[in-house]
Amino acid sequence: MIGRTATVARERWPAGEFHVGDAYELPLETGSVTYYRADKVLHMLDDPARAVAEARRVLAPGGRAVLLGQDWDTIAIDSDEPETTRRLVHAKADSLPSPRVARRYRNLLLDAGFTDPVAEVHTAVFTDYTAYALLQRITDEESWLAEQAERARANRIFVVVPMFLVAAQGWRPTWIEARRGGARVGRPPPTSPAPGRPALPGERTAPPRISRWPVIL
Ligand SMILES: C[S@@+](CC[C@H](N)C(=O)[O-])C[C@H]1O[C@@H](n2cnc3c(N)ncnc32)[C@H](O)[C@@H]1O
Repeated sequence: MIGRTATVARERWPAGEFHVGDAYELPLETGSVTYYRADKVLHMLDDPARAVAEARRVLAPGGRAVLLGQDWDTIAIDSDEPETTRRLVHAKADSLPSPRVARRYRNLLLDAGFTDPVAEVHTAVFTDYTAYALLQRITDEESWLAEQAERARANRIFVVVPMFLVAAQGWRPTWIEARRGGARVGRPPPTSPAPGRPALPGERTAPPRISRWPVIL
């Protein structure tokens, strides 16, 4: 499958440069790329956090990562058999290594040290035979699919897939400069709640101390 993706990519963009590799160990130099995108990939991995750490490794100062994909538990399908539908959707989700990783994209990026995450959810609505093809990838249960086929014929098929997208900043140039200058690199100090917002458990309520390493921020 990985090889086929590379073949299709080379056909579409003959001038591009493509490498086949594992998301856990990209065949790229540290800090060598300006943009990273994993499109409907992380749900295939047992350890998505490891892939996100690898993304950060290869990003150059100022580079950005984008993760996108569906949350396999939140597919909505109109059906005369809602309980069977729920069972089939969840069974498909449970067959995947990381079915709910999309709702964790933002936290994965933050945990890996990315900053300034921007999260969006775009809803894909399928009302034609594309929907039926999608459902065939979810289950092969014939009686349930027969109802959906009839719906497709009668223009009554309705499948909704929320697509999650989170973009975030990798190394900031200032962090790299701090490292080059020998300054200590660490996480920014925890923030206080914004004025008017109640403090969360464990959150500091005093005004933040001026950091000894302002260049890191
Ligand atoms: C649903 S496809 C998405 C392909 C493509 N990004 C797209 O949007 O059409 C999932 C892809 O993840 C790839 N994949 C699975 N495990 C991988 C791994 N450990 N490292 C890199 N790619 C992997 C598969 O080969 C497959 O091409």
